[in-house]
Amino acid sequence: MTEQPHIEVDGLSIPLLGFGTWMLEPEDARRMVAEALRIGYRHIDTAWIYKNEAAVGDGIRDAIEAGHVTRDEVWLTTKIWVAHFHHDDLLAQAKESAASLGFTPDLLLLHWPKKTPSFAETLGALNAAKDQGLTRSIGLSNFPSAEFRQAQGLSKAKLVTNQVEYHPYLDLRPLLKAADELGSSITAWSPLAQGKIADDPVINAIGRAHGKSAGQVTLRWLIQQDVIAIPRTTKVSRAEESFDIFDFELSDDEMAQIHALARPDGRLGDWLDPDFKWDQTG
Ligand SMILES: NC(=O)c1ccc[n+]([C@@H]2O[C@H](COP(=O)([O-])OP(=O)(O)OC[C@H]3O[C@@H](n4cnc5c(N)ncnc54)[C@H](OP(=O)(O)O)[C@@H]3O)[C@@H](O)[C@H]2O)c1
Repeated sequence: MTEQPHIEVDGLSIPLLGFGTWMLEPEDARRMVAEALRIGYRHIDTAWIYKNEAAVGDGIRDAIEAGHVTRDEVWLTTKIWVAHFHHDDLLAQAKESAASLGFTPDLLLLHWPKKTPSFAETLGALNAAKDQGLTRSIGLSNFPSAEFRQAQGLSKAKLVTNQVEYHPYLDLRPLLKAADELGSSITAWSPLAQGKIADDPVINAIGRAHGKSAGQVTLRWLIQQDVIAIPRTTKVSRAEESFDIFDFELSDDEMAQIHALARPDGRLGDWLDPDFKWDQTG
């Protein structure tokens, strides 16, 4: 088994490379989660709104039954949908998600920030879910820096990650700084820019120097920043390729060349509530 890097947050050890399941139909989710665990991934990302939590749980059980993993070797994340942010609704979804998965998740995230109900109510409920044993840890998704800091101020427990869009075409410096100052972490969604990195001349040139693909270089660029990356694919060969990133290293110059690809219109999935604004950069 390949040694794979982890990030330590609040006494927890989170594998830096995970497997995403957004848009995977239940059949593909079950098949690919089981394949990912066979390949060596030890971190799986899902959400209530993906409508595949039960299939993800089945995929994990398939891998356990095949002897590829044990439950405690897998980091499992799911998310509370924005329609469930009132106290009782949040706890009800946390119970439903755990029941659908058939496992207590390791991490439960608030999927997107929302003005109402108040952050105080929602963070209180998220902490209650942790206190009631419905998740091992809690965190956020898609929170800009100011709201990330505000939410941590209202949360008894450490918010162990903020899962946001991040890939070579976005500058994430303010949020990376906030995560560092809060003792938290960043998880990159759409780490491969939904496949757009495949044709990038700069990333491909760097890849040729290492005998690696553009996807492998991009994932390596993320984990070398201590950012958790959760690529998604329906193809076993691509899942294998994306896992094969632990035997090379990008130089400081190569890291800087990829950072320089960030551009103002690089965002792919902007579903942020208009009550909030993304961090301003450069
Ligand atoms: N918290 C949130 O709000 C949020 C939002 C979006 C996503 N996420 C999470 O983040 C995960 C990853 O994000 P994502 O699914 O948007 O994007 P991604 O991993 O950047 O890209 C996945 C897409 O790129 C293609 N692809 C994968 N590897 C490739 C390669 N080497 N070359 C070319 N194309 C490639 C895949 O196609 P094939 O299937 O054909 O390989 C798939 O269509 C999601 O699955 C989900 O778990 C979270």
